[in-house]
Amino acid sequence: MAATFPALIQPRLLAALQASSVADLLPDGFMPSVDPAQNPQFGDYQTNAAMVLAKQAKKNPRELAAEIVEKFESDNLTETPEIAGPGFINFRLKKEVLEQRTLDLLADSDRLGVDKVADPKKIVIDFSAPNVAKPMHVGHIRGTIIGDSLSRVADFLGHEIISDNHIGDWGTQFGMILYGWKNVLDEKALEADPVPELLRVYKAINQLCEDEPELRETCKAELVKLQSGDEENLKIWEKCVEVSKIGLQKIYDKLDITFDHWLGESFYNDKLQPLVDDLLERKIATESDGAVCIFFPDHKKLADQPPAIIQKGDGGFLYATTDLATIDYRIKEFGADTLWYVVGIPQQLHFDQLFEASRMIGNDVELQFIPFGSILGKDRKMFKTRDGDTVQLDDVLNESVARAYKIVDEKNPDFPEEEKQEIARTIGIGAVKYSELSQFRLTDYIFDWDNMLALKGNTAPYLLNAYVRTRAIFRKMGSDFEGTDVITLTEAAETTLALKLAQYAEIVPMILSDFRPNTLATYIYELATTYHKFWEACPVLKADGDVKATRLALCELTGRVLKHALSLLGIQTTEKM
Ligand code: ARG
Repeated sequence: MAATFPALIQPRLLAALQASSVADLLPDGFMPSVDPAQNPQFGDYQTNAAMVLAKQAKKNPRELAAEIVEKFESDNLTETPEIAGPGFINFRLKKEVLEQRTLDLLADSDRLGVDKVADPKKIVIDFSAPNVAKPMHVGHIRGTIIGDSLSRVADFLGHEIISDNHIGDWGTQFGMILYGWKNVLDEKALEADPVPELLRVYKAINQLCEDEPELRETCKAELVKLQSGDEENLKIWEKCVEVSKIGLQKIYDKLDITFDHWLGESFYNDKLQPLVDDLLERKIATESDGAVCIFFPDHKKLADQPPAIIQKGDGGFLYATTDLATIDYRIKEFGADTLWYVVGIPQQLHFDQLFEASRMIGNDVELQFIPFGSILGKDRKMFKTRDGDTVQLDDVLNESVARAYKIVDEKNPDFPEEEKQEIARTIGIGAVKYSELSQFRLTDYIFDWDNMLALKGNTAPYLLNAYVRTRAIFRKMGSDFEGTDVITLTEAAETTLALKLAQYAEIVPMILSDFRPNTLATYIYELATTYHKFWEACPVLKADGDVKATRLALCELTGRVLKHALSLLGIQTTEKM
């Protein structure tokens, strides 16, 4: 595939700058920026280079812009650039260029114009990571959906991506679980549906501990027994982990999410003591008040914070110890050069310390903390159920599908039952994912069923409906898209759509620059509205000849890009709705 339009304009613009009176001001390796035009009336792309350089040279920006335009050799890529406002230079692509690009995109059905990165990395992505026998709550919803989308994008861009679900399967919660298992477990309920029963047990003991704080010691004793290898407790623990994994897997299946590995915290148990010993020996860790700690006296941000504790006075290890062992494993066993952690913002300090400790250890690896904010209820407080309980991901999914079913059933009462259910599933799951991914990850967003499932606006149902529309044309015509050798863009709505389609190649690589799937969501929404305008302005089946062929091609290509872009968000499409 040819380069993106900004990448084609840039060298031509650079040559013009080098031939201009500000040539001396250009630093080595300089590349002027070229962005989509803010106002499409003036052009397709724009640059502010003349304004930036005029300021440095103390020149009149519009005059400098005129000089640059004069020197600009378009080489049949664009019309003569135009100057707008305080000194923007606007570029409009030649119609033939956009027509040829549309043909190229039609032929490039796998990549739709998106190039692979030049420097693929080997990335381990750590996301979701719920805690066994504790509810997978809304905080985990965000990480699970964002992490999955980032994996899909990185994979498509040619990185080697290894997903690892670092579940919390060795936490202090097992003290209460073990005590509960021995005292309040309902075996029948466990057999019927283990995850809710484990949760009930956990909550029941948690409550008991509130009422009788002495019980905490008993629970702690169970935990210590487990940690020192007591056979009975190990068996119960194993069983808990096993049934929890099965329960989690069911949720991931609903979400169409898979992991390459599930190396939970317990996987690292036997690696912790050797790690601590080594760090002590290398003087990276020190003993302090009986505990083993890592101090960060030379670190600007961390120096004033408490140290990272990696072994308690009683010999127990901590979250940070496991994470240090995990980094080591991922580098040595997976050969990773990059580690991504998609975890909530409250863990910022933990990851700052972890990354700094890793640097002190001398690990050669790029570490990225990719945090996210919270989900709020309509009252702008933490999202809770009506009874004030934490909201569970599985319940959210089920309710979303049930609500989507109502919409599908109202619109298409005559669809076969199975089809209605299938469509409801696609819309319901897609709506949960899209309401997450259309937000910037650090924004605290308000969970609102009505907004999520609305048929109009920036929602999954609206986007899925746009896709359905691209498909409906071919159903009406009675045949699939048959290809075309000619594209002739005659109407403005066609040109705008063709340009938008070509810009998919510009958007996808941008997602990873700051880990923002919402950049892609915005693009999909804009593509859908652009298509909608085209659809209203340009009759397809009633047109003839090349015009009809062009319009069919634009419908086909829009369908392909919508489907592909949604798939990068982990959202499936439906042919009808
Ligand atoms: N289990 C943790 C939690 O629920 C998240 C783990 C994130 N990954 C990691 N390597 N620390 O808060």
